[in-house]
Amino acid sequence: MLINLSNIKKVYPGSKDPVIEGLNLAIKEGSFTVLLGPSGCGKTTLLRMIAGLESVTGGSISLEGENITNMEPGDRNLAMVFQNYAIYPHMTVKGNIEFGLKNYQMTKQQREERIKLVMELTGLTGFENRMPNQLSGGQRQRVALARAISKSPKAFLMDEPLSNLDAKLRNQMRSELIQLYNKMGTTFIYVTHDQTEALTMATDIVVMKDGKIMQYDTPENVYSNPANVFVAQFIGDPGMDVFQTTDDQFIGFKPRALTTEPVAEGVSFDANLLTTEYLGYDYQMTFEVPGKGTLVMRNKKKMTSGEAYRLSVPLEDLYYFDRDQNRCEPFPITGLKEVFHADK
Ligand SMILES: Nc1ncnc2c1ncn2[C@@H]1O[C@H](COP(=O)(O)OP(=O)(O)OP(=O)(O)O)[C@@H](O)[C@H]1O
Ligand SMILES: [Mg+2]
Repeated sequence: MLINLSNIKKVYPGSKDPVIEGLNLAIKEGSFTVLLGPSGCGKTTLLRMIAGLESVTGGSISLEGENITNMEPGDRNLAMVFQNYAIYPHMTVKGNIEFGLKNYQMTKQQREERIKLVMELTGLTGFENRMPNQLSGGQRQRVALARAISKSPKAFLMDEPLSNLDAKLRNQMRSELIQLYNKMGTTFIYVTHDQTEALTMATDIVVMKDGKIMQYDTPENVYSNPANVFVAQFIGDPGMDVFQTTDDQFIGFKPRALTTEPVAEGVSFDANLLTTEYLGYDYQMTFEVPGKGTLVMRNKKKMTSGEAYRLSVPLEDLYYFDRDQNRCEPFPITGLKEVFHADK
């Protein structure tokens, strides 16, 4: 383990309710760990406590076995990259990277070599003498990355570093970050509320809600094997449809598992189609299940709004959750009460 968080608690000054309480997390050396969760769940708070930019109210943090809970940020040898790439507007690209190395004991030659290497790694070679206002948003973000990399930190901490970029550039930078991670092999701890970023980049995902860890797992498991109703509904495009059963347990299924074909074994119900949206690869239909609520279906076939359908889910596509909304063994389904939405 590279970083161990033990029983972490955080109460901001002036408020009495903790935003994080009793949180335990072990971050693996060499992993690309993504902290994922809805706005306000405590991702930035957690990352800033790891960086030392925010104090810890209770519990401890260790880095390579050493207790760093109260260590100054500058002594932790962790590099932080922010959403709004904090680079100096009055310095050239090279100047920005060099500035980050100011306090490091290096000969001029060592420094030049290091700068050359990180410029190559981040694809900035040839841009040495440009000023930040002569760069695109993506290039500026690369300068911020280059400056972070130049210090050879034990881990990179990144807080939504791509959220200020437009969709196309974000996809491109995502791919570049993966390549960078593959080349460097350094631990990345990456905060986002964007599940696509999490699923595509992470080796490990920490799904958070209200300052608590809901699941810590591989992207594949978080997607296909959700530990509870919250994760099942938070992850996916869109998340699972979930019914509360008449004995207050829960069953869920992916919107793509819904079918208009009769199934030999499974659950079936009548539903009225409200809307059909074309999404390119397939369609998203929103149905009203009379007296139970609305749910969505994804299908390649276009369906006509205003009509009534009988929808089914094959038994093998059902997920089962107990009364506490945690995943459990299959149980006999007594009846369907209402469509359920975990509060995000
Ligand atoms: N300096 C502060 N003082 C008081 N409360 C704060 C402070 N910073 C954050 N909070 C509160 O702590 C909670 C967690 O905030 P945090 O910024 O960690 O969330 P987040 O998961 O990063 O959200 P987002 O996705 O919107 O960035 C929120 O309820 C927020 O209002
Ligand atoms: Mg945040």
